[in-house]
Amino acid sequence: MKGLILVGGYGTRLRPLTLTVPKPLVEFGNRPMILHQIEALANAGVTDIVLAVNYRPEVMVETLKKYEKEYGVSITFSVETEPLGTAGPLKLAEAVLKKDKSPFFVLNSDVICDYPFEELAKFHKAHGGQGTIVATKVDEPSKYGVIVHDIATPNLIDRFVEKPVEFVGNRINAGLYILNPEVIDLIDLKPTSIEKETFPILVEQKSLYSFDLEGYWMDVGQPKDFLSGSVLYLNSLSKRHPERLATGPNIVGNVLVDPSAKISETAKVGPDVVIGPNVTIGDGVRITRSVVLSNSTIRNHSLVKSTIVGWSSTVGQWCRLEGVTVLGDDVEVKDEVYINGGKVLPHKSISANVPKEAIIM
Ligand code: GDD
Ligand code: MG
Repeated sequence: MKGLILVGGYGTRLRPLTLTVPKPLVEFGNRPMILHQIEALANAGVTDIVLAVNYRPEVMVETLKKYEKEYGVSITFSVETEPLGTAGPLKLAEAVLKKDKSPFFVLNSDVICDYPFEELAKFHKAHGGQGTIVATKVDEPSKYGVIVHDIATPNLIDRFVEKPVEFVGNRINAGLYILNPEVIDLIDLKPTSIEKETFPILVEQKSLYSFDLEGYWMDVGQPKDFLSGSVLYLNSLSKRHPERLATGPNIVGNVLVDPSAKISETAKVGPDVVIGPNVTIGDGVRITRSVVLSNSTIRNHSLVKSTIVGWSSTVGQWCRLEGVTVLGDDVEVKDEVYINGGKVLPHKSISANVPKEAIIM
């Protein structure tokens, strides 16, 4: 089988992390976000994966090519010269996606869940329509594409409304699809939105169905959701692979720690924390609901809550970071500094408090 991952866009909502690393390569649960998807596709029998990119493919090629062998898949990069939106990339990759008559998967690169690809393929083949969208329920549907069902035929989609201004329902597009190759014939090679242009045609043809997702789901394309997504991911990991989570007298709840990290015995970590490779956590440090990316240091007696600490950063002694604070790459926070909801750009040194939400450049 085949799959295409939409990896375009600039990831602006995940700044300052995406100023250094393209969004799909930002580590989520200690692995590049997109690897979770590549692995799930490979596990479902996908052998050809197309990454549709329009920005900095070199870094991505370098990082991802090495996983081809590990997962037994061929990864090709389909590079757009202008951003082609969410449908144009399918047309551009037509040669791969139409190489046989089997349906192909399409994934938004920033969604995490327990990807149900095998069940999705089975469901899709059984209903005989041209496409199936994975659906999930959310509290704030206005940020997403909303699915409205046909009352007479279960799972047949009656309306698809992208980013509705008025409430039409709370079952949304989870950003995972399976489509027949014929769907590509509906798309022109130009910037095109699959949500606004292609889905409405399939709805009109009564050929678009939805498949209800079980379990957690999150679009982790912005810091607040990245942290919420990490909580959900760790919770899912605690059920599927509890042996991967850390244990010990100073660990509370679900905590994932890279084996190369060093955590002081007098620190207290968790719940809901991810500690990356080569991280150092000092004496008496307290961390909850946070992600610390590789090569960073948290010095003695600091408190880190609801924060993402970017790569190679240093948080001094007696600091307090909270309120969805995000440190970019190579940031230094001096001793005793308080940051509440600050987004600190790469290579900055902070010596004054940031008491409310602010971008520090
Ligand atoms: N290759 C390529 N080229 N990819 C693109 C482009 C482009 O020009 N523009 C966006 N993408 C990719 C993004 O990287 C992302 O993986 C995906 O397409 C969706 O774009 P987002 O910018 O993340 O869209 P969204 O989150 O506002 O909404 C989409 O996702 C929701 C679920 O998270 C829509 O598909 C909604 O209907 C859906 O509910
Ligand atoms: Mg998104």
